[in-house]
Amino acid sequence: MSQKVHIETYGCQMNVADTEVVAAILKTVGYDFTESPEEADVLLINTCSVRDNAEKRVIGRIENLQALRRKNGNPAIIGVLGCMAERVKERLLTEYGVDLVAGPDAYSDLPNMLSDVESGHKAINITLSKEETYRDVIPLKLPGLHISGFVSIMRGCDEFCSYCIVPFTRGRERSREPESIYREIEHMREVGYREVTLLGQKVNGYHYIGKDGAEVDFPDLLVAIHRIAPEMRIRFTSPHPIDMSDKLIHTMATYPKICAHIHLPVQSGSNAVLERMKRGYTREWYIDRVATLRKSIPHCGISTDIFCGFCGETEEDHADTLRLMEEIRFDSAFLFKYSERPSTYAARHYPDDVPESVKLRRLEELIALQNRLSLASNEADIGKTFEVLVEGVSKKSRDEYFGRTVTNKVVVFPKAQARIGSFVNVRIKSATQATLLGEI
Ligand code: 5AD
Ligand code: SF4
Repeated sequence: MSQKVHIETYGCQMNVADTEVVAAILKTVGYDFTESPEEADVLLINTCSVRDNAEKRVIGRIENLQALRRKNGNPAIIGVLGCMAERVKERLLTEYGVDLVAGPDAYSDLPNMLSDVESGHKAINITLSKEETYRDVIPLKLPGLHISGFVSIMRGCDEFCSYCIVPFTRGRERSREPESIYREIEHMREVGYREVTLLGQKVNGYHYIGKDGAEVDFPDLLVAIHRIAPEMRIRFTSPHPIDMSDKLIHTMATYPKICAHIHLPVQSGSNAVLERMKRGYTREWYIDRVATLRKSIPHCGISTDIFCGFCGETEEDHADTLRLMEEIRFDSAFLFKYSERPSTYAARHYPDDVPESVKLRRLEELIALQNRLSLASNEADIGKTFEVLVEGVSKKSRDEYFGRTVTNKVVVFPKAQARIGSFVNVRIKSATQATLLGEI
């Protein structure tokens, strides 16, 4: 009987895509999958290091799985994949008792590593590569509805923003060969996907130079995908403001299946803070890019990431961030407080000097403001009609579906005759801060 693997995924969407790569690699060597950790011979956790609390959550889960293993008296292998494998390294074997540690560029080695563990050794591979893009792997979509899926188009990051662990855990930036991306998207189209989200740590920095010297940049890639899968919606995340070129904005405005939504992390509204963060742009640059985007695509949804309490952040800096949020009127935002990450530039050069209580208060102020902005943005949609991709049954009511508008807002509506996976026009009748409610 074949061995059963259970994989859990923490962190960003890139990890969701990587889990599919891991599943494909393990399937080719004969492993099966199970959703139940109790049944599994191999327990894998794909992990995140972006903030300390993300790592704490994973450590808690490892401890649970150890307890499960003791209780079952079963000899399941426990393996840690992804960013924490890369950052915490051998200590996962020695302090946390796991059997296998594989960094983001080591997944092709997993079959060998698992055999090593089966023959009684511990296995670790945290070598980062300058080339690995898993170009020959067609990621295996795990059970669930196959309507909207992720495709990773580049790996790693060379930006070295001063607060960020990603360049250390995911290594150098590299773009995946266009043909390999097209193959994956064609496959998704064949099995019925209606939407693809292109993924990269700095997705609009995509740049591939072929052996013949031909170059494909991010807008070129979008146009090619639009041609290959003309009925699929195209999204991408996360772009960097410095690479928000006029060409990209023009491409988004020209091609109807590229969704009118952008998740554009700003991080802070203060120029002094942006400079210490080494973000490479100013508040004015960001505002200009959003203005250009809105001029080309007036209804474009805009969301962002912001974190407060970075080293040296003053009350005035924080007020600048609140003012920027008001000025842009983000439709939604992911909001965090600074968490120092070992070995980053900030950890080595700036004291983490904003007291925890101040970080918390500022975070609450960001959240309160964004709640107000999100509600206002959603209320402004009442009475409008949107094309919605039906993604599934609403969690709150079996008689309702949920889906998303092109602007990336979640809409809940009575099922009527619609099917999951179809596009319907929904008229918005009311709104909360998080959701639009409407009728087909
Ligand atoms: N502390 C807090 N938030 C962080 N982010 C990245 N690094 C840190 C950190 N050290 C946030 C940024 C990024 C999002 C994915 O996580 O806002 O865009
Ligand atoms: Fe977390 Fe960043 Fe790694 Fe994604 S790339 S899992 S957000 S640390």
